[in-house]
Amino acid sequence: MSVKLRGNWNYPTTVWAGPGRIAELAAACAAAGIARPLLVTDEGLKDAPMVRRALAALKDSTLFGAVRGNPTSSHVEAGLAAYRAGGHDGVVGFGGGSALDVGKVIAFMSGQTRPLWDFEDIGDWWTRADPQGIAPVVAVPTTAGTGSEVGRAAVILNEETHRKKIIFHPKMMPRIVISDAELSVGLPRAVTAATGMDAFVHCFEALCAPGFHPLADGVALEGMRLIHRYLPRACKDGGDIEARGYMLAAASMGATAFQKGLGGVHAIAHPVGSWFNTHHGLTNAVILPYVMTFNRSAILDKAELISRILDLPVAGFDGLLAWVLEFRRELGIPHTLAEIGVSSDKAELIGREAAIDPSAGGNPIPIDAAKLERIFRAAIEGRLAGVAQ
Ligand SMILES: [Fe+2]
Repeated sequence: MSVKLRGNWNYPTTVWAGPGRIAELAAACAAAGIARPLLVTDEGLKDAPMVRRALAALKDSTLFGAVRGNPTSSHVEAGLAAYRAGGHDGVVGFGGGSALDVGKVIAFMSGQTRPLWDFEDIGDWWTRADPQGIAPVVAVPTTAGTGSEVGRAAVILNEETHRKKIIFHPKMMPRIVISDAELSVGLPRAVTAATGMDAFVHCFEALCAPGFHPLADGVALEGMRLIHRYLPRACKDGGDIEARGYMLAAASMGATAFQKGLGGVHAIAHPVGSWFNTHHGLTNAVILPYVMTFNRSAILDKAELISRILDLPVAGFDGLLAWVLEFRRELGIPHTLAEIGVSSDKAELIGREAAIDPSAGGNPIPIDAAKLERIFRAAIEGRLAGVAQ
């Protein structure tokens, strides 16, 4: 029996979930205290009917539709110029993770006097920000993966150093999220699969990250259960609103859970995305089994638990790994990084940069540059044997 997928949630922020709720966008802006929103969206969405309708529904709004995948500081700069030129007082982030991240950073930077990179997620650097200078954000995700709509950080590529930086501030969390499954029905199958696997990896890495955070662990487990159940359905029939609704929820759950930490998959995927411009979710999906295998000895208990929650035919680590490989194959995700255009000529550099990525600290087994390079090379070659630590 299907349930009515509609609800108002108050954590980790205010979420208005349910098909058709984009009709409440103007009310969401009013509730967030935004009178003149800048609508920030992806280049590929800027002419889409849903974006045009959103603009029409918002009085005194203008469109900034120049965000691309793996967004850079120049996207933020251009958006900030549009924000100031239009005299805006808040942002509607509308689209995939890139649009949401850029929208959040535009709102964050709108009242700051220091440069963007002063707010990288290092130590207490976030306290350098003037909290009064952070404008409110309403987030409208159209993909189910990143979970940026419920996140307090954004990933922006520094074009000079070619490194992805995490910009963090607790007040970067959107005030209101509109989680409307109807907005994701047009998402192509491959993007649905890749973004959905990003959400799975968020849940998986969060659960496996060391540390005491049973709240995050519970959210992560239920997120994985929903993805196991509904991602194949969303891929098979893009118009399956029930599957789309659960996937949007699971994506938000992944980002909620990874406040606990991420791990080696994201540590490697960030520099790979920076250097090879690969899709973030797809990169994670390819890398997952190699990092899982590396971490095997440290995650036996957690793998057992996940395998039981997912009700897999074979319990334990081996059953879980076999399922991940089969699930990826069914979703059309390649087994090697080579198949998505990644080569080993930067392997040493990828290893070094992965080691200093903030995600690396959440890996259940401490990892250094040499180990990360080894995992990266295995993922290029499609070699699981000999990866275990
Ligand atoms: Fe991710």
